Amino acid sequence: MITITGASGKIGSKTATALLKNGKSVRVIGRNAQSLQHLKELGAQIAVGNMSEVDFLTKAFSNSEAVLLMLPPDKETSDFGAFQDQVGEAQCEAIINAGVKNIVFISSQGVHDVLHTGTVKGLGRQELRLNQLPDEVNVLSIRAEGFMENLIDSLKLFNTIATPLRPEVKTGLIATDDIADFAVQRLLKLDFTGKSYQDLLGDRDYSQTEIAAIVGAAIGKPQIEYVQYAYETYKNALLKAGISESRATLITERYKSINDGYFNEGVRNNISTTQTSLEDFAQNILSPMFR
Ligand SMILES: NC(=O)c1ccc[n+]([C@@H]2O[C@H](COP(=O)([O-])OP(=O)(O)OC[C@H]3O[C@@H](n4cnc5c(N)ncnc54)[C@H](OP(=O)(O)O)[C@@H]3O)[C@@H](O)[C@H]2O)c1
Repeated sequence: MITITGASGKIGSKTATALLKNGKSVRVIGRNAQSLQHLKELGAQIAVGNMSEVDFLTKAFSNSEAVLLMLPPDKETSDFGAFQDQVGEAQCEAIINAGVKNIVFISSQGVHDVLHTGTVKGLGRQELRLNQLPDEVNVLSIRAEGFMENLIDSLKLFNTIATPLRPEVKTGLIATDDIADFAVQRLLKLDFTGKSYQDLLGDRDYSQTEIAAIVGAAIGKPQIEYVQYAYETYKNALLKAGISESRATLITERYKSINDGYFNEGVRNNISTTQTSLEDFAQNILSPMFR
């Protein structure tokens, strides 16, 4: 049995689907049965409950040879960092209670710095917690770059590509398909031991101006230009979109840490450089949504 957290979300849903297609027994965790129905129809067991409850998680992790673990990006919680710690601690307790031996954790670039990197600081604290689990628990943390799917939120919210990043700052961007593909291979092969991490950085680095140009061309709006927002203006736009004060502050801080050079540490090589280009993502995913 392989158990998937965040199973109604992007990475979790794709990972669960691929494992089921490979003939694996899969259990999927979420807060409501409806959003897991498509996986139930493919043969998954479903476990509906709250990820901050140790008893629920212990039961959901039982008989699992491996768990795909993530800290949910809850939009509304009043103290996002405290929420990440509460869920992270419950997950670690449940891993021990249920005797799980293999964990693939969805982590992020920037976790090496738990002081400046906003939303990522909580993932860094969770990596530290997971790395302190007993020796018999193997943990592989996937330190992913920012997701290409974040561009969907930007287009919906601002009608363009807008963040507080300086236009010339280069960042990697990864499609969640590529993260799920990597996770699926590790979960099928269980070829990791001890405590380790793998950077996944997307196909190349892009300046913010380049990102806007590629996206604009693909969605038939070549005139769109990258917009750099002041930190406070950006945070206020997130608040208006219904994101809690605490999470909006941390999201904005993450961008500031990139501008200030605290963020990227990942090393490019043939494993960390993944397949999907922004041109392909924009053509296949963004164009049908925004053209
Ligand atoms: N976005 C980025 O650029 C980026 C980069 C690196 C790492 N990450 C990390 O990637 C992870 C997100 O992956 P994703 O984008 O695949 O997820 P996603 O699509 O946002 O899905 C998140 C899942 O979390 C669940 N969830 C939300 N709030 C919850 C709560 N309060 N309690 C329990 N479950 C809750 C949702 O399930 P239900 O609502 O069905 O319960 C949903 O299945 C996060 O840990 C994020 O920090 C993101």
